[in-house]
Amino acid sequence: MCGIIARVGDGSAIDPLLSGLENLEYRGYDSAGVAVQNGSGIDVQKRSGKVSDLKRSIDDVTLEGAVGIGHTRWSTHGPPTDENAHPHTDQVGDVAVVHNGIIENYARLKSRLAAEGHEFTSETDTEVIPHLIQSHIDDGLDTESAFRRAIAELEGSYAVAAMRSGEHVLYAARQGSPLVVGIEDDGYFLASDVPAFLEYTDTVVYLEDGDVVVVDETGIEYTDQDGNPIERERETVEWDPEQAGKGEYDHFMLKEINEQPTAIAQAIEGRIDPARGAIDLDGFEPGAFEDIDEVQFVACGTSYHAALYGATALNRIGISATAMLANEYSVAAPPIDDGTLVVAVTQSGETADTLNALRSAAAAGAETLTLTNVIGSTASRIADKTLLIRAGPEIGVAATKTFSSQALMLVLLSRRIAADRSGERSGDRRSLLEAVESMPESIERVLDRSGAAAVARRYGDSQSYFFIGRGFGYAVSLEGALKFKEITYEHAEGFASGELKHGPLALVTPETPIFAVFTGTEDEKTLKNAEEAQTRGAPVIALCPPGHEATEIADEHLEIPETDATLAGLLANVQLQLVSYYAATQLDRSIDKPRNLAKSVTVE
Ligand code: F6R
Repeated sequence: MCGIIARVGDGSAIDPLLSGLENLEYRGYDSAGVAVQNGSGIDVQKRSGKVSDLKRSIDDVTLEGAVGIGHTRWSTHGPPTDENAHPHTDQVGDVAVVHNGIIENYARLKSRLAAEGHEFTSETDTEVIPHLIQSHIDDGLDTESAFRRAIAELEGSYAVAAMRSGEHVLYAARQGSPLVVGIEDDGYFLASDVPAFLEYTDTVVYLEDGDVVVVDETGIEYTDQDGNPIERERETVEWDPEQAGKGEYDHFMLKEINEQPTAIAQAIEGRIDPARGAIDLDGFEPGAFEDIDEVQFVACGTSYHAALYGATALNRIGISATAMLANEYSVAAPPIDDGTLVVAVTQSGETADTLNALRSAAAAGAETLTLTNVIGSTASRIADKTLLIRAGPEIGVAATKTFSSQALMLVLLSRRIAADRSGERSGDRRSLLEAVESMPESIERVLDRSGAAAVARRYGDSQSYFFIGRGFGYAVSLEGALKFKEITYEHAEGFASGELKHGPLALVTPETPIFAVFTGTEDEKTLKNAEEAQTRGAPVIALCPPGHEATEIADEHLEIPETDATLAGLLANVQLQLVSYYAATQLDRSIDKPRNLAKSVTVE
């Protein structure tokens, strides 16, 4: 996720661009930049760091111009450096571009352009766009046609805004990444989200995939990709600017829960091809994992639960894996052999316990990999390899979308390791990859029809809350309980369902609802365990597909769509996130910043 903004109109664009970028920082904050038309050309100012760093560094520069573009970055290709920050230009600085999304075919386009003599200065996918536009201008096209031709060559997702030296015009297009127009009396904005310009105007037009717009201070033209005119309706937004970063949601946590379809789509974009059964994890050559015999995961909290999910995925396909709490790993790390891969799962990449475990694994000679959301984080600097989850920034202290992206990426990693090691046939992965591709839609279905709010209301004054499951369902039970206790401050525990009878059953009463997660693995046993609790008076809330036998005995049913058994737990987890959220709202808790907790724990 990144944030883009562009403005054309009366007066200087620079202040609206900078304040817009500050309001978009929730979409990315590792680098920022602006470009304006200064009368004699395009002036670009950009750097790694926050928007405040950019503002400070341009204090001494006179930056004026009535048309400009800006960007705040969350890195996906190339670390956060000054060179990789947007805007990007072609090599003579004639065309400048900001982009949010992922250009899947950028490597191919880049080598074609390089062969034509184009020189690149960054490691980003975005830089190919201004070069492409320029190459079409060199071929004799006018700017608009060159922009359209370039856009038609892009594969992947994008919200793009471009401008050309000497023109008071903005060119923009949307495919798979958000882009909204803001309309003022004397000009226009284009941005990734409304908060970027809400202090200037509340009149907006939401663009749709395939839309291309050409805008100057006098008007805007909406067309499809072939240049045919289209109609787009104006709307008035009624948000208060304070609330704007959260959009229509009361809390960042709820917003991030609802962002999961997009987060998952971003995580898998360009990485899977169900038809070929292929898993292409960027930067990892075919065979990169062929010598791996065993995987040790290290992580804390929610990331530990994702790690447990990953270990389950590996063990189920015959590859030895363990998940250890990172703080325990330093006390008694398992032996490391030649074929050991240690994977540090950490959203922030800065958790002290996880970094220590990673350092000690590296010192013991293990090959290391980190699965993280933050490119350039300490974990990615220590580990031999980095795999990004591309979830975009998570503001709520309680991790939600990053858990789903981590667990899904670990499922893909497990199958990629299997493919590299044993040449697992691509056909064996096809149906899983089809289910992975449908995950955004499946999560959307859960979000659209969740009965979580009613369940939270019904059981909101219980004494304790228990979560049970088996295999993937066990990892989800632990995560469901952690989320619940974190934001409601109520007592909640997750158990392997087979363990209930070995002790925890003593705690079960009519005041302890049991959330039972059914993921298609030994469900009949989990059902028996749930019934044992129900016999002691506990209400059972079953998380399972419609028509599942658990619905016959359960007191409540939270529905999850049918999917591959490897992924069902992730859908159940979305339901549990919503149960926690609604239970916490009822108790009027501080949801985005629960008491005593921090987003990134940098102490041991
Ligand atoms: C819980 C939560 C924490 C983190 C843990 C590790 O909602 O967010 O338990 O998962 O502190 O953080 P990272 O993933 O940044 O290493």
